[in-house]
Amino acid sequence: MDIFINNIISLLKEEIPLSAEEIEGLIEIPPDIKMGDYAFPCFAIAKQLRKDPKKVASELSQKLVPNDIIIRINALGSYLNFYVSKNMLFKTVLEEISNKKDFYGNSNLGMGKTVVIDYSSPNIAKHLAVHHLRSAVIGNAIYNFYKALGYKCIGINHLGDWGTQFGHLIVAFRRWGSKFSISSFSGKETELTVSKLNELYVRFHKEVKENPSLEDEARDWFKKLERGDKEAREIWQYFKEISLTEFERVYEKLGIKFDLYAGESFYNEMLDDTVKRIKDAGLTEISEDALIVNLEEYNMPPCILKKKDEASLYATRDVCAAEYRKQEYDFDKMIYVVGSEQRLHFKQFFKVLELMGYEWVNDCVHIDFGLIKFKHGKMSTREGKVILLEELLEESCKIANEIIEGKNPDLEKKMEVANDVGIGAIIFSELSTKRIKDVLFDWDVILNFDGETGPYVQYTHARLCSVLRKHGEKVSTDVDYGILKEDDELILVRSLEAFPLTILRAANNYEPSILSKYLLDLCSTFNRYYQHHRILTDNDELRKARILLVDSIRQVIKNGLSILGLKAPERM
Ligand code: ARG
Repeated sequence: MDIFINNIISLLKEEIPLSAEEIEGLIEIPPDIKMGDYAFPCFAIAKQLRKDPKKVASELSQKLVPNDIIIRINALGSYLNFYVSKNMLFKTVLEEISNKKDFYGNSNLGMGKTVVIDYSSPNIAKHLAVHHLRSAVIGNAIYNFYKALGYKCIGINHLGDWGTQFGHLIVAFRRWGSKFSISSFSGKETELTVSKLNELYVRFHKEVKENPSLEDEARDWFKKLERGDKEAREIWQYFKEISLTEFERVYEKLGIKFDLYAGESFYNEMLDDTVKRIKDAGLTEISEDALIVNLEEYNMPPCILKKKDEASLYATRDVCAAEYRKQEYDFDKMIYVVGSEQRLHFKQFFKVLELMGYEWVNDCVHIDFGLIKFKHGKMSTREGKVILLEELLEESCKIANEIIEGKNPDLEKKMEVANDVGIGAIIFSELSTKRIKDVLFDWDVILNFDGETGPYVQYTHARLCSVLRKHGEKVSTDVDYGILKEDDELILVRSLEAFPLTILRAANNYEPSILSKYLLDLCSTFNRYYQHHRILTDNDELRKARILLVDSIRQVIKNGLSILGLKAPERM
């Protein structure tokens, strides 16, 4: 906390030739509370003074005079350890949480700055795949981190809604999909769904083997689509609406939103200008009738901008989208949350942007992540079966419902809570390991209320709420802070103090698991404390102080869960 650090800085500044910023940069939090609350390593200063760091530490510990805020200073090896007034620490941290409530952890560090985040971005006419779920969940958490830090965030869903495959699909639809009327949804058999689009797609690829001319027909239809032919556009638009209806249903279940749906087709009219700029920069050449940017020099395959039939590609549209977003939002950072199998694609088109002379390409990052693997059971991929995300989410809520039914059959709004827990379990499982690692999806693990899971954190939150309900009185900050003397109370308060810094670290590293791990630790420390100490004791003063601590932990868990994208039910 600022008041302690500032105090240490002003003490040290009198004695050593370093600036306040330099001192602040060196201050550490010791690994063990027994070693004090803050530590100052003396290596750098010893080097400057050409002295032994241990000696410097011990000399400084003699010279520095403790005060009301920093009550003790001693030397341990080459470190100076500072002990803060526990009274003051408890008061500052708990009062701040109580004042800021849902905003504790937020800051205005990013004020005036904009971050664009491209996440989920599935392909239309197909079901949402598990990697789109992962991207959505990670992207949403990153969005929330930056928002908490005061940045303006623009969340974009870069739908895959363009490409030659729509020629195939239009042909299939016109030949075998006539029973589907292009009209609004009726819920009838004849209603077109993403599953039925998939069937049409599969049928096309089967029939084209017998009848290769279908391929030419498809190419013509894609050309028509590109030229803006009325029928082609109408059919494509219909595919898009159907897909979006399904996608939005899933996003809604997950509680994930976008500020903008601007798919690949959004850039159609701007592509020629982009290609012209790349040409004018002297970057293009023709290879096998295609227009490419040769990236041999950078040890990469070429970035293809146009095929021989003039059709644009995924990369062309990404270069164009990046230019558009810079123009439109003047972002300070652009984050693409896309699986690691697309690493090369990002390297290639970032390189093209760099060669075009855009320095802001340095503000663009590809945030990649590992795969989701399924262990066993109904959702197994072994049979090559596609995993339907909607089914996955429903299954999770169903299992959560059964568990809750067993634990707390009289719970009010059981279904709602089961949904919060079922969805929370899936989201948390995606965020609790480092994003680059593969996630092993196992129902027994992710829904274990005692494991390192979303339900465990939610359950701890509900337990805290229940203690507060039993207390039944308003929580007050008018307490005797000195009465909180247990080691675990100190560890808990230090952990609450670290929450804002945890958000900052998670954002800087684009790593939601930093916050998930933090929450798991906080919960397990609290649960240990709860087992060993009565909160609702007969000692009124102690009870009041402990209740304030409980309420602060509840608040921080709630804020943390909300940033990760989980609900925090008050009863479970
Ligand atoms: N639609 C792509 C896919 O499903 C992901 C798009 C990611 N965003 C981007 N700007 N390329 O693989």
